[in-house]
Amino acid sequence: MDASRTALTVPAEETLDPDDWSAVEELSHRIVGDAVGYLRAVRDRPAWQDVPAGVKAFFEAPLPRSPSPLAEVYREVAENVMSYPMGNIHPRFWAWYMGSSNFTGALGDFLAAIQGSNLGGGNHAAGYMDQQVVNWCKEMIGFPAAASGTLVSGGSMANIIGLAVARNAKAGIDVREHGVAAIGKPLRFYGSDQIHSCHRKAMEALGLGNRALRRIATDAALRIDLAALRTAIAEDRAAGFQPACVIGSAGTVNTGAIDDLRALADLAEAEDLWFHVDGCIGALITVAPANAYRVAGIERADSIALDPHKWLHAPFEAGCALIRDATAHWGAFAVTPEYLEKTTRGIASANWLHEYGLQTSRGFRALKVWMALKEHGIEKFGRLIDQNIAQAHDLTASIEAEPLLELVAPTNINIVCYRYRPRGMGAAALKALNTEIMLRLQEEGTAVLSDTTVNGEHCLRVAINNHRTRRSDLDLLIRETLRIGGEIAETGIAG
Ligand SMILES: Cc1ncc(COP(=O)(O)O)c(C=O)c1O
Repeated sequence: MDASRTALTVPAEETLDPDDWSAVEELSHRIVGDAVGYLRAVRDRPAWQDVPAGVKAFFEAPLPRSPSPLAEVYREVAENVMSYPMGNIHPRFWAWYMGSSNFTGALGDFLAAIQGSNLGGGNHAAGYMDQQVVNWCKEMIGFPAAASGTLVSGGSMANIIGLAVARNAKAGIDVREHGVAAIGKPLRFYGSDQIHSCHRKAMEALGLGNRALRRIATDAALRIDLAALRTAIAEDRAAGFQPACVIGSAGTVNTGAIDDLRALADLAEAEDLWFHVDGCIGALITVAPANAYRVAGIERADSIALDPHKWLHAPFEAGCALIRDATAHWGAFAVTPEYLEKTTRGIASANWLHEYGLQTSRGFRALKVWMALKEHGIEKFGRLIDQNIAQAHDLTASIEAEPLLELVAPTNINIVCYRYRPRGMGAAALKALNTEIMLRLQEEGTAVLSDTTVNGEHCLRVAINNHRTRRSDLDLLIRETLRIGGEIAETGIAG
């Protein structure tokens, strides 16, 4: 065949790399500059603002088929995405429960993506760093060095990892081989009636069913009632169930209540139960000098879920499951297909990290956590945790000093539940009034709170997991709650 004709018919090979690296470099400098400015000015922007209809419509544009210049792509992102954030990096964002991220962590995410490594495992630096961060998490909690662990997407996944190992360890059969239907006596798990909803999802996904998780009543401090727990376990044994696992909450989502972890560890030992701690909120209080005593006993758990994207402020996502018995952990997930066999040398000669969880491909989550820990040191993170807890207690004192405000639940750590309460108003009207206060605070861009119901009482909920919050922000919250509450009381919700 004629060589010149072949050259004409073979299409040029393509790549996603830019044609002009210097233009990309220039644009990248601009993006980084904008990002620094964005973070530096976060306090000056509204805590939240609604997404305009035009911006919502932007996200309905069809699949792009032809190219656009990267500068134009970035302009669209800056305009439509960066302008309408959730707001959890704002100093007055206290809704639900999430950390407030940090610039160093964002650089870590960027570099992780640039390197692009897959943390399914292998003999490369990212894999070793992943293990190092897990080891650091063990050290923070006071877990033995021989324990095992894995970085996952967040607390929900960390809990399901711990509970899966618990199920397999207590099933009495090889559940992986035979399935839950072959378990002789139905397993029972226990947690307080304040337990996070992810445990329900976990029980369902593990094939045990929601009813296998018995919710135990709580005491006046919203901690699991130990006597009620003992009774439930005895009842279940008598009824032919197999009590398998007790889940302690180190910080409940509603009020931050911390179960008596030492007592739960003793009880689990006496009853031969697996002891899992949901420490998504509070496990890291272990590093906070003024408050570490609150989570004493956590180090005795068989498994722990913790969340670096909360009090280590890692950009989403980063969770961590720790399992005391490394063999049980590996045994719950390891599969070695022929295409993932280990070698004695080369890239496949290190641990396969996918053998410790459900994902095969895994992102390089460790870098963002590692860089922020190296930059600040764990002692600073400990002080920031103490700072948030002190702020929550100050806010509580301010609420208690205001006749029109009412504390709805005891403040334990960094979560404050309160409401605006004029005299003589019924429950439904109070809920409507406080919901309206919450919505106006959001819509005016002042602060983002969420709400919940504790012991049947609706309330506003302030979860201070935020390294940017200052006491003056909380003073503003009090003033604005009173102002908006007063306005609504005068003019009604519609007014
Ligand atoms: C006590 C508790 N457990 C579990 C979770 C779930 O964690 P994630 O949102 O990281 O999946 C949360 C989330 O706030 C939580 O507060």
